[in-house]
Amino acid sequence: MFKGKNIVITGGSSGLGLATAKELAARGAVVILIARNKEKLEAAKNEIMKIGGSVHVFSSDVSKIESITETFKKIEAEVGPPDILINSAGILREGYFDKLPVETFREVIETNYFGVLNSIKAALPFIIKRNGRIVNISSVAGLMGVFGYTTYCSSKFALVGLTESLRYEMKPLGVKVHLVCPSEFASPMTEHLNDTRTPENKAHTLTIPEYDIDTMVKDTIKGIEKGKFLIVPGKFCRLTILGARHFPAITRFVSDFRIRQVFVNRNI
Ligand SMILES: NC(=O)c1ccc[n+]([C@@H]2O[C@H](COP(=O)([O-])OP(=O)(O)OC[C@H]3O[C@@H](n4cnc5c(N)ncnc54)[C@H](OP(=O)(O)O)[C@@H]3O)[C@@H](O)[C@H]2O)c1
Repeated sequence: MFKGKNIVITGGSSGLGLATAKELAARGAVVILIARNKEKLEAAKNEIMKIGGSVHVFSSDVSKIESITETFKKIEAEVGPPDILINSAGILREGYFDKLPVETFREVIETNYFGVLNSIKAALPFIIKRNGRIVNISSVAGLMGVFGYTTYCSSKFALVGLTESLRYEMKPLGVKVHLVCPSEFASPMTEHLNDTRTPENKAHTLTIPEYDIDTMVKDTIKGIEKGKFLIVPGKFCRLTILGARHFPAITRFVSDFRIRQVFVNRNI
């Protein structure tokens, strides 16, 4: 399914994007990584070349439509038209709502929502011609609210809405759309988060235990192969989401209980 395909992965220089790129390269895909930092991109390229993979890297900012449109033109000219687009680029800002400036909300939406939207707009003419696929990495935080994630959840919920609607528009055109909603897993993103996160956020998010990145990659690729629309990696996480969707009052009760145990009254 992936052999010989041109697969563009935004956020491919780190975490889930890089781990997915390695697995797809090992299966014979030509992986094309997009991120901003050139040094991280070169390091990722070397890692993939070491395992004998075919890899190209492009530095671009997904939140800037001109930058990403130009990048897809370069990809078509230098590598060939993309068959699959995996949108993994994302940022996380955690904190108490009253402490977060509006600019932080805008910054997160610009990357996690408009970044995906821009990349799809830029890639779509190619993807349609190739009867390709679009894979959007949202989050469990795009399906349920989380203490401390008012910025992040807003962006990931918006991405869920975009992806669900886009699925209907793309299906008649022969383009498959997948929505991936992982729970927390170990990556550079969570490494930074652990230095600053509020105790309530930690208690709430870790209601679902943290997964290793290999489970995320394995279940994501399996879901794509099976043609699943909603992919929730990790068996326990899938059960939790199923429960949360059918019994939201129980989810709120358990979450409130966990948050109450560590709640810091800051008298705001
Ligand atoms: N880690 C988790 O627990 C978790 C859980 C659920 C969902 N997710 C989602 O999974 C995805 C991957 O997360 P991760 O943990 O692998 O993160 P990560 O290790 O921090 O990697 C993020 C990647 O996105 C790139 N990126 C960020 N902003 C960008 C921009 N404006 N333009 C282009 N590239 C940009 C980064 O490179 P540059 O900084 O060099 O641009 C990097 O390659 C994200 O969408 C995240 O929200 C993560």
